[in-house]
Amino acid sequence: MTTLTTWLGHVELPNPVLNAAGCGGSGRELSPFFDLARLGAFVTGSIALEARAGRPAPRAAETPSGLLGATGLPGPGIEAFLAKDLPWLLKQGARTVVSIAGNTVDEYAEAARRLHDAPGVTAIEVNLACPNAEDRGVMFAAHADAAADVVRAVRAHTRQDVPVIAKLSPDLADVVTMALACVDAGADALSVVNAVLGMTIDTPARRPALPGVLSGGLSGPAIRPIAVRCVYEVHAALPKVPLIGMGGVARGEDALEFIVAGASAVAVGTALLHDPSAPPRILKELEEALGTRGIGRLTDAVGLAHRATGNVPRQIRPEHLAVTAPRPRAESSTMPGTPSPAGAPPGAPHGAGEDKIEESSS
Ligand SMILES: Cc1cc2nc3c(=O)[nH]c(=O)nc-3n(C[C@H](O)[C@H](O)[C@H](O)COP(=O)(O)O)c2cc1C
Repeated sequence: MTTLTTWLGHVELPNPVLNAAGCGGSGRELSPFFDLARLGAFVTGSIALEARAGRPAPRAAETPSGLLGATGLPGPGIEAFLAKDLPWLLKQGARTVVSIAGNTVDEYAEAARRLHDAPGVTAIEVNLACPNAEDRGVMFAAHADAAADVVRAVRAHTRQDVPVIAKLSPDLADVVTMALACVDAGADALSVVNAVLGMTIDTPARRPALPGVLSGGLSGPAIRPIAVRCVYEVHAALPKVPLIGMGGVARGEDALEFIVAGASAVAVGTALLHDPSAPPRILKELEEALGTRGIGRLTDAVGLAHRATGNVPRQIRPEHLAVTAPRPRAESSTMPGTPSPAGAPPGAPHGAGEDKIEESSS
């Protein structure tokens, strides 16, 4: 029997398999396939202050091993979400991670403020892959300073007992610098990664297959090695920050790959579109994969690949060492390269797992 409990900051989840933002609808679409309370947490599509219709069709194009999408983040707007969707999710017993979107720092802050007193918010995920209206539409996710401003504003308007998760884009030369900036600004956990910027051409028509937007976000198995690399690098630099790994998770072995790279949880996105019952299956496969390797606790598997490779942490620049100072809230940061207490999950409350002396072998 494998213990699958994991932590997002100080919040305990019964298991590490979530859906990825935007891939589970409002929850109602998934609920005929499995009980939403069986997910580690349900993640909403990104919600903006106002309702959004999303982009006109075509919103997606198939590519080999991937999906190129440009949805324009359709959603009900925060008030309708609070009135209808969140109470419904609470009634299902789902732990809900609310993903928020905005085009200015103030819009993100206002979304967080309106969620402040809402019952049933387990965590807030900040989708940074949104154009910044105050900087020529450049994505917040592209600049560490802009991303940090958003995370700081959201953290300031969020209850201390609700973790703030910053969602990173893989379209960066240096994902670690972005991760450090977000943690320094108050992120308790990181989602790694959003879809990869891509383009596909409709060759017979001699034009981009997504004509309105030209490029889109590539997701699915095609991006898994990119996502795993990002998780590995961020965990090497910030071993105590809980990471939710995502990008092409479709099987238990895929989930395990992210976990040994350093993720404390995984999210299933594109796989849900053709197999809506994937999360409970992936959880069962993950449990079997851990059991087969003699690993009794999921948290013992987090980052195992670093031990195998000797974990040579990246050189962190001095200005980033601020994130290594102990933080009273979630104790999420540590000196790069400092080994976690044996068995302690990244971001676990103080003392969690410290009784564990022996490492599990895989
Ligand atoms: C149809 C679709 C809608 C998505 N909507 C969102 C969204 O609302 N917010 C967000 O942060 N990411 C969104 N994403 C990105 C996913 O949450 C995830 O980060 C990415 O697709 C990688 O995971 P995957 O390969 O398992 O799909 C969306 C992805 C897809 C395919």
